[in-house]
Amino acid sequence: MKVALVTGAAKGIGRAITQAFADDGWKVVAVDREAGTLEELAQRHGDSLVVIADDISGRAANQRVVASALEHFGRLDAAVGNAGINLEKSIDETTEEEIDGLIAVNIKALIYLAQAVHGPLAETAGSFTVVASKTGLVAQLGTPVYNATKGAAVQLARGLALDWARENVRVNALCPGIVDTPMLDRFIDSAPDPKQARREFAQQQPLGRLASPEECASVALFLSSPAASFVTGVALPVDGGFTAQ
Ligand SMILES: NC(=O)c1ccc[n+]([C@@H]2O[C@H](COP(=O)([O-])OP(=O)(O)OC[C@H]3O[C@@H](n4cnc5c(N)ncnc54)[C@H](O)[C@@H]3O)[C@@H](O)[C@H]2O)c1
Repeated sequence: MKVALVTGAAKGIGRAITQAFADDGWKVVAVDREAGTLEELAQRHGDSLVVIADDISGRAANQRVVASALEHFGRLDAAVGNAGINLEKSIDETTEEEIDGLIAVNIKALIYLAQAVHGPLAETAGSFTVVASKTGLVAQLGTPVYNATKGAAVQLARGLALDWARENVRVNALCPGIVDTPMLDRFIDSAPDPKQARREFAQQQPLGRLASPEECASVALFLSSPAASFVTGVALPVDGGFTAQ
């Protein structure tokens, strides 16, 4: 039996990751502050999927969630820190509250999750994957604070990969390009012409289309699997060629 924990599991990329692990026969602990929509997935997968409603920005929540995963399944083989928020705002307009919010969810929550999963993953020679972004590798116009948080997520993964290597715990960053999720919809809906904005986002990527959440999920599953047993410290773009330009 293999057990995975996924944060931000109710929607978008996290939901697809949860589904991919469950379809691959893993037991999954799916965490989201809006866990209601996961109930239907939980029903489909029966005892294999446990849903936890929690906001993972604080240290205690991450400890609580991992303790609960261990209580349910007795072990942890993979953790995916996927929960994240974005903000399209110039540095001048960004409020203190927004800066704190982005740092809390996109950086601190990953650090707290790392602290909580380190021991359990060392016991199983497991893996930790953070969902960063291509904006952690190259900057995107108009989202300076988001870019900064994703750069931090990439460097957290690289640092932990080194620190945990001799314990045989692998750590990687998955760096999506533009993915068709509710996060993107919110971004697009605020544009003057949402249809045109969607087309332009698709055209920004060399493959000429948006990524599906499932195309990110299959890479998260790969990074967590024995097929990636010598892959650690990698920031892997899933961006349709964007960072190759
Ligand atoms: N969509 C994209 O184009 C894109 C591109 C690059 C990176 N990413 C990253 O991928 C990850 C997932 O993005 P998405 O597009 O699926 O987002 P989304 O907004 O569609 O879904 C994110 C999920 O995370 C949950 N979440 C957010 N903050 C939380 C918290 N504090 N506690 C618990 N749950 C929380 C939300 O409730 C939601 O269910 C994020 O880290 C995002 O930055 C997305």
